[in-house]
Amino acid sequence: MTRITDREVIKQLIAEHGRWWHEIELAPGIITPGDDSNRMKLPILDRLGLPPVMRDLRVLDVGCSDGYFSFEVEKRGAAVVAIDFVPESYTGFATARKILGSTVEYRMDNVYNLSLDKYGEFDVVLFMGVLYHLRKPLHAFDSIRSVMKPGGQLFVGTMMIDEYLLMPDGSVTSLAAIDPRLATVPLWQAYPGDSLNGDSTNCFAPNQRALEVALTEAQFKVEVIERVSMGGYARATAVVDEKTAKYQRLDGRLETAVFDPSIPYFLDEEGSVHEVTGAKNEKPSRSS
Ligand SMILES: C[S@@+](CC[C@H](N)C(=O)[O-])C[C@H]1O[C@@H](n2cnc3c(N)ncnc32)[C@H](O)[C@@H]1O
Repeated sequence: MTRITDREVIKQLIAEHGRWWHEIELAPGIITPGDDSNRMKLPILDRLGLPPVMRDLRVLDVGCSDGYFSFEVEKRGAAVVAIDFVPESYTGFATARKILGSTVEYRMDNVYNLSLDKYGEFDVVLFMGVLYHLRKPLHAFDSIRSVMKPGGQLFVGTMMIDEYLLMPDGSVTSLAAIDPRLATVPLWQAYPGDSLNGDSTNCFAPNQRALEVALTEAQFKVEVIERVSMGGYARATAVVDEKTAKYQRLDGRLETAVFDPSIPYFLDEEGSVHEVTGAKNEKPSRSS
């Protein structure tokens, strides 16, 4: 694909698209009029370990919107697949790709639908600004992990509640102001309706500990987390943990696959039968 270089044509295409989320420099000095601080986030990913050279790496950009991060990693040499659950012309993605002459592959899809069959394996996944919009955040981590090579690197950017706990009256406080011990308790805050920033697509945000736990529960090893104002960024390595994998499969039973009798029923698990008080019972035999 050839890059468009005529500055007037570029400006016209940007104006025709109209609504931009990302600031993308599509030609020297010509920047899409986005609202987001996306260009300040790339140095944070670099600090976390995003490779400066990405030749031979397959990258997935989940919830790519206008595609700023996809195009940046493409510049570094990566082969990039970008997904978002809206058509590529709904965002500025199609326009930016055309102007840049980019070969990033766009697929309109939901993060929950990622699968090895459809996507193959990725070395790097970018999951920026999407987690707190999701009704099923842990499911998203499971789906993402399912398309990653062991050893692959996941970069997550999200709202976090450690420094930004929304109170019922709309004021904001930190978890530490309530009780410093809460830093070690994995917590998610729910945002009913449009209570966070008037945006009803905001659903749940974790504190740092909950993000670490969620990643671990999806077979990731958290390498680094950096808190930045009302959110944070993490890099995690895809690892193989058979026990965790078993529970991921158990929770996903029948979701996308036919019944698999090799996945245990939860009561089949050692030590899984308790009285309502929490005391452990002797495991009943299956024939009784
Ligand atoms: C706040 S924007 C973030 C865009 C970009 N990743 C960034 O960091 O600037 C969230 C994007 O995720 C997309 N999105 C939200 N939920 C999604 C889902 N379940 N599957 C795929 N994309 C989703 C939205 O359409 C939107 O483009």
